[in-house]
Amino acid sequence: MGRSPVTTLAMPLTDGEVLLRLPCDSDIDRIYAYGQDPQIEEAPWLPIPVPCPRDVASRLVEEFHQGWHGHGRFGLTFVITTPPAADLFGVVHLFCDDSDVGEIDYGVAPQHRRRGLATRAVKLVSAWAFVQLGFGRLEICITARDIHGLASQRVAEKAGFVYEGIRRSRVLATGAEFEDRLYALVAPSVPEAGPPNAASPYVVATCDCYRSCVRNQATYSASADSSVKAGAKPSSARARVRSSAAC
Ligand SMILES: CC(C)(COP(=O)(O)OP(=O)(O)OC[C@H]1O[C@@H](n2cnc3c(N)ncnc32)[C@H](O)[C@@H]1OP(=O)(O)O)[C@@H](O)C(=O)NCCC(=O)NCCS
Repeated sequence: MGRSPVTTLAMPLTDGEVLLRLPCDSDIDRIYAYGQDPQIEEAPWLPIPVPCPRDVASRLVEEFHQGWHGHGRFGLTFVITTPPAADLFGVVHLFCDDSDVGEIDYGVAPQHRRRGLATRAVKLVSAWAFVQLGFGRLEICITARDIHGLASQRVAEKAGFVYEGIRRSRVLATGAEFEDRLYALVAPSVPEAGPPNAASPYVVATCDCYRSCVRNQATYSASADSSVKAGAKPSSARARVRSSAAC
């Protein structure tokens, strides 16, 4: 990830059911506990071994922190939880480079699945990425060779992403080949979003924007109309958020 400036959340993202927050040190204990459950090997949702030593859990949380400073493998990591609990139920990662295309990845702990957490989390992150970071397009890549990808595909579809086809890639060093199903969501044409304030709560603004985004997606996909894409916020908007947000 080539992102160097610090980015952070002005406040947690929530739709009233799901809350996305920054990673914190108390997540170490939770990840350590998840890492003792062999289920995690069947459908990996966190990159940890089983059993997971505490120092591995600790380093993972540290790497999640570092992502918000432009370092590490995971991009911007949001912890999925449900209010009033603060426990880590899942994670969403937003990968960004210097283009206006971001990639979203997600995982939810087995005991918290099929409650709509991943779908709500992807919607919240998408709205935030479009409005606050000025992305023009978001992608989700899901393995095409693994039945575990079915749930992930369903999440992408329910979050409004559109299937675009198979993306093939190869790691030159190892020769390993990958086939992913590519889903994408294109930024809506929205007015410039102001900073969050009491009169115009941030989350409401982003959710309204997201609804508009999903409506516009079909139009954009069908016509590749540049006028819709032109509605995306300029990349300078992302630069503004980066520079104004202290971590
Ligand atoms: C993919 C994953 C994040 C879904 O999380 P979740 O919080 O359970 O997802 P949601 O509750 O938002 O479910 C969204 C949809 O997917 C469906 N779904 C969930 N698990 C499913 C499964 N195992 N098989 C088929 N559909 C499934 C849900 O039923 C729901 O659709 P519906 O409302 O039409 O019924 C979670 O299963 C996970 O972390 N899996 C392990 C990691 C993984 O498989 N990643 C994919 C690698 S590419």
